[in-house]
Order: sequence, then structure tokens, then C-alpha cells
Amino acid sequence: MSIVAGNWKMFDGPDPHALAGLDAIVCPPYTRLRDCVAAGLTTYAQNVHWEPEGAYTGEISAPMLLELGVTGSLVGHSERRQLFGETDEGVARRTAAALEAGLHVIACVGETLEQREADETQAVLRRQVSVLDEHERLVIAYEPVWAIGTGLTATPEMAQTAHAFIKSLLDVPVLYGGSVKPDNATGLFEQPDVDGALVGGASLDIDSFRAICEAARSRS
Ligand code: PGA
Repeated sequence: MSIVAGNWKMFDGPDPHALAGLDAIVCPPYTRLRDCVAAGLTTYAQNVHWEPEGAYTGEISAPMLLELGVTGSLVGHSERRQLFGETDEGVARRTAAALEAGLHVIACVGETLEQREADETQAVLRRQVSVLDEHERLVIAYEPVWAIGTGLTATPEMAQTAHAFIKSLLDVPVLYGGSVKPDNATGLFEQPDVDGALVGGASLDIDSFRAICEAARSRS
């Protein structure tokens, strides 16, 4: 099984109709969710709150996403953790509530460069993964922070080592994320424990995203 998900971040992204028929997940900003669902795409939000409703300015709940026809959500992306103060505890609550409500979840984990250089990668991954429980609709994305949007990709071997470690903690599919491009996707997908990719920048370009999806398909 190979899963490819495109994280559009705070970009408008491509025309959803141009992606129709692609075997992939798209994670557009909230304002584009409806368009993507209407175009028949498997659509995930980029975050989801743990309460169904309430005084939580700026947040969106799982029932609200389900009502729009959204299938799942990213949770705990490193940009949420680093720029918006999200904690492992919050990630755990968001993930559990979304799964409970019936959404699929891609929970993101990964170490910073500082942590990797201090040989803390496994400890960080253990801490981030330990708050999550196995679930049939849960997928983890291993996204080393130093590889996101930087053009630096983990080597296929580095990804494989991290993925195998994550799977020793939790038996769920693990996607790789961090500067995945058409020219490095095949090497990553060849690794036995790389079950797909979470693609940022390259998912905004239809040709690149399509090429990555094709690389995933030829592996599976
Ligand atoms: P990138 O982003 O592919 O642009 O590095 C990946 C992500 O943040 O999910």
C-alpha cells in the first residue's frame, strides 16, 4: 500500500479539477475544502480541534469537517508544533477526538536538526508517538523538521531506520515527508517501511504531484 498526500499549507493550491482521478489525498486550507470535496478528491483538513464545538476561536471541529464531506485531517504538523505552540498532549487529544468522530488522521512526528545532531532522534520520536494509540484510521507521517521545505531530504536509509523504529512502537502505516520531489520519491518508496509520502511544496505543482503519485503506484 502506498499513500500520497499533498499538504497545500497556506497556499491556494492547484485547481482541484485538474487533480481528479489521481489516487491521492489533498490537504488544502479550510477555504478550499469544499471545492476539493466537490471535485471528488479525498480531502483532509490540516488540523482539527478535539471538542465538537465551543469557544475556541480559530478552530474547526471534526463534526464540522465531516459535514463538509472531508475524510480526514493532518494533526501535529511541525509547523503547528513550532510556530503555534502545539504540544504532544494537544496532538494526542486532537487525534483521539478526530478518530472517535470517524475521521482518518495523519499524525506528524519528526526531530529537529539540533535533536538529530544530539542523537535524540529516537527519544523524540518515542515521546511523540507514545501519546498516540493504534487505530485502523491512523497513519503517521515521519517528517524530519530539517527536511521540510529546505530541499534537504532524509536519505532513503535514514527514512527507513526512522520508519522501522516508529513501527516498532505503533503498528500503523508510516509516510515520509520533507522535500519529497519526483526525483527522490522512487528511492524513498523502495524502502520496505516507507508506506507513502506527505508532500508539501511539490504538491502545489500538478505535474510534480502526479509524478510522485505515479512513483508510489509503480511501487505498490
Ligand atoms: P515539503 O513539506 O515537501 O515542502 O518539504 C512537507 C510538509 O511540510 O508536509
